[in-house]
Amino acid sequence: MKTARRAMVTGATGVIGRRVVPELLARGYRVTAVGRTAQKRAELGSVGADAIALDILDVGAATRALAGHDVLINLATHMPKSTLQMLLPWAWRENDRVRRDGRERMDAAMAQRARRLRSACRLRFAA
Ligand SMILES: NC(=O)c1ccc[n+]([C@@H]2O[C@H](COP(=O)([O-])OP(=O)(O)OC[C@H]3O[C@@H](n4cnc5c(N)ncnc54)[C@H](OP(=O)(O)O)[C@@H]3O)[C@@H](O)[C@H]2O)c1
Repeated sequence: MKTARRAMVTGATGVIGRRVVPELLARGYRVTAVGRTAQKRAELGSVGADAIALDILDVGAATRALAGHDVLINLATHMPKSTLQMLLPWAWRENDRVRRDGRERMDAAMAQRARRLRSACRLRFAA
């Protein structure tokens, strides 16, 4: 039997993520969806995702969470809450942190996973 490919979606509760999770499930992916409150995880679970808590700025936790996944879709953001705030540079600081530092850390976590996959392949070929 073919095993379902596994995708992790960060920002799964956001405007785009909420739409991406059901699309992936409909295409046969097993989906791990990140939600940072119990209520958000319950909502993600109710559509069929495996919901987990994760701060994408925590590279160690991200590396552990990514084990066993084939695909990462990183949609985490922290947009200012109002149109007025969008005009204020400071209101974008957390968004910059999540988009820049978060992306770098998720890339690093994914790269570590890829290195491990390559090592596993070498061991298999050497045996
Ligand atoms: N996303 C875009 O590119 C975009 C473009 C144009 C307009 N907008 C507008 O901007 C507003 C906000 O939309 P949005 O979907 O971008 O933002 P959002 O609804 O605030 O969702 C942001 C997502 O990022 C996650 N997140 C933030 N920081 C995180 C962290 N450190 N670790 C893990 N996850 C983290 C949140 O998780 P939690 O739920 O767990 O907090 C949430 O899933 C909407 O009105 C939307 O229409 C968005």
